[in-house]
Amino acid sequence: MSTEQKDILENRQGEVLERSTDAVAAKKLYIESYGCQMNFSDSEVVASIMSENGFSTTRDLEQADVVLINTCSIRENAETRVRKRLTEFKKKKADNPDMVVGILGCMAERLKKSLLEQEKLVDLVAGPDAYRDLPNLIDEVGTGQKAVNVLLSRDETYADISPVRLDKGGISSFVTIMRGCDNMCSFCVVPFTRGRERSRDPQTIVQECQDLFAKGYKEVTLLGQNVDSYRWNITNKGEIKNKALPTVNFAQLLIMVAKVSPDLRVRFSTSHPKDMTDEVLTAMAAYENICNYIHLPVQAGNSEVLKRMNRGYSREWYLERIEAIHRIIPDCAVSTDIISGFCAETDEEHEETLSLMDIVTFDFAYMFKYSERPKTLAERKFEDDVPEAVKSKRLTQIIEKQQAHSLASNKRRIGRTEKVLVEGVSKRSEEHMSGRTGRNSMVVFPKGNFEKGDYINVRIVDCTSATLLGEAVEN
Ligand code: SAH
Ligand code: SF4
Ligand code: F3S
Repeated sequence: MSTEQKDILENRQGEVLERSTDAVAAKKLYIESYGCQMNFSDSEVVASIMSENGFSTTRDLEQADVVLINTCSIRENAETRVRKRLTEFKKKKADNPDMVVGILGCMAERLKKSLLEQEKLVDLVAGPDAYRDLPNLIDEVGTGQKAVNVLLSRDETYADISPVRLDKGGISSFVTIMRGCDNMCSFCVVPFTRGRERSRDPQTIVQECQDLFAKGYKEVTLLGQNVDSYRWNITNKGEIKNKALPTVNFAQLLIMVAKVSPDLRVRFSTSHPKDMTDEVLTAMAAYENICNYIHLPVQAGNSEVLKRMNRGYSREWYLERIEAIHRIIPDCAVSTDIISGFCAETDEEHEETLSLMDIVTFDFAYMFKYSERPKTLAERKFEDDVPEAVKSKRLTQIIEKQQAHSLASNKRRIGRTEKVLVEGVSKRSEEHMSGRTGRNSMVVFPKGNFEKGDYINVRIVDCTSATLLGEAVEN
C-alpha cells in the first residue's frame, strides 16, 4: 500500500494528534486524542473544564501532572493502538508516581472499570458525558479512591462550555451540534459508547461560531454522528415540545450559522443518506459560504447488505440522494465511507459496492475492513464469516478503484480557478502554502505573500490523486 493510501486510511479515525498549548499555571494537563473529529472537539471541552480548575495544557508529557487520553473504539485496531500508548504511560508513571493517568472517550465507556481494576493501566476513567466530573475524579485519585464515571446522559451537550482551542492560531474549528446516536447500524459501537442522540441549543452554537469568527477563525465544521437528524424543540416523533418557542432543524441551523458572516466558511459532518433532505441541499445552494461538499457514507452498494447493516436505506435510495445533490447543488463534491467484508457479504454483493462506486464516482473515500465490535447488533445476530484474506482483497479492490476516481476527479479541476482558504505553509515544501477549496480538496501553491486565513483564487495546473497544484491569480 502506498503512503498516500495509508494517509487516507488513517486520517479518518486513527490519526494521533497531540494538540495542546503551553501556558504558565500551577498544574499541567497533557491531553492526547484518537478517533473521530468529535473526540478532538471533546478534548477542547475537557481542556476548558480543566482550565477552570487551574490546569493549563502542555505538549510535554514530562511536565504533566495529569495525562488524559481520549480514545476510540470504532475498530479493534483503534483500541490496540491506545492500549500500546497506555502501556507507555504506565512506564512513565513508574518514574513519576504522582502523575495521574486517565482514560476518556469511547474506550472508557466500553471497557468501564476493567482498565482500572483488572488491567490496572489507568487511575481514572471518564466516559463522554462525564467530563464535568473530571476535577472531582482527579481529587478522588488523590485520596486513593477508584475514580470512575461512565454514566451516559440524555441531555448533556456541554452547551454552555466555551472550548479551549488546542490549535493556537488556528483558522478552522469544530463545533459540536449534537451528541450520541440513535441509529443502531448493526456494525457500529457508537450508540453504546456515546449514548442517546441529543441536540445542542442553537443559540449557543451560533454564539460559539460568532466568537470563533471574532477571534480570527474562518471556517467551522458542525459535528454530529448524523447531522441531518439535528432538531431543537422537536421530539423524535416530530412533535413540538414547547409551542411558545421556535423549532430548528438542520437546514435552518445551517442558515443561522451561514449568516454569522459571508467570510466564515461552514462545513458539516456526518450526513446520513436516510435523513438528508432537499431542504438542506437547497440551503447549501443558497449560501455561498456553506461549502459544496457532503460526506455521505454509503457503507455498501448492495441493498441486502445495507439491510443487514440496518442502515435504513437501499442502493436505489442512496443513488437518488446523489442525484438530488447534483440536481440542487452545481459542482458539489461527495465523499463516502465503505466497509469491506461485512457479515455474509458474497462476491456478487461486493461487486455491487464496486459498481455503485463507478456510478457515483466519489471524490474521496475512507475505506475499512469490517471489524466486529462487542455488544453490537451484528455481533449478536450474525457471524463475522468473511475470511480476513477475502476482506483484504475486497478492500484493495475498493481502494484501487477509489484512487482512480480521486485522480480523475482532481484532473477535472485542472484549468479551473478555485477559491482557497489558506491554511499555512505546505507540509512538504517551505516554498509553498496549502489550503482547501470549498469542495474540500487540498491545494498547494507557491508561497507569495499570502497568510494563513486569506481567501485567494488559485488556478489549478496539475494534480495527484490526493492534492491539487495551483498558481494564485489576481482576485
Ligand atoms: N456516524 C457516522 C460514522 C461514524 S463511524 C456515519 O454514520 O457515517 C465512521 C465510519 O467507521 C463509519 O462510517 C464506518 O464506515 C466505519 N465503521 C464503523 N464501525 C465499523 C466497524 N465495526 N468495522 C469497520 N468499520 C466501521
Ligand atoms: Fe454508527 Fe450508524 Fe450512528 Fe453512524 S449513524 S454513528 S454508523 S450507528
Ligand atoms: Fe471512535 Fe467514539 Fe468517534 S468510537 S469514531 S471516538 S464516536
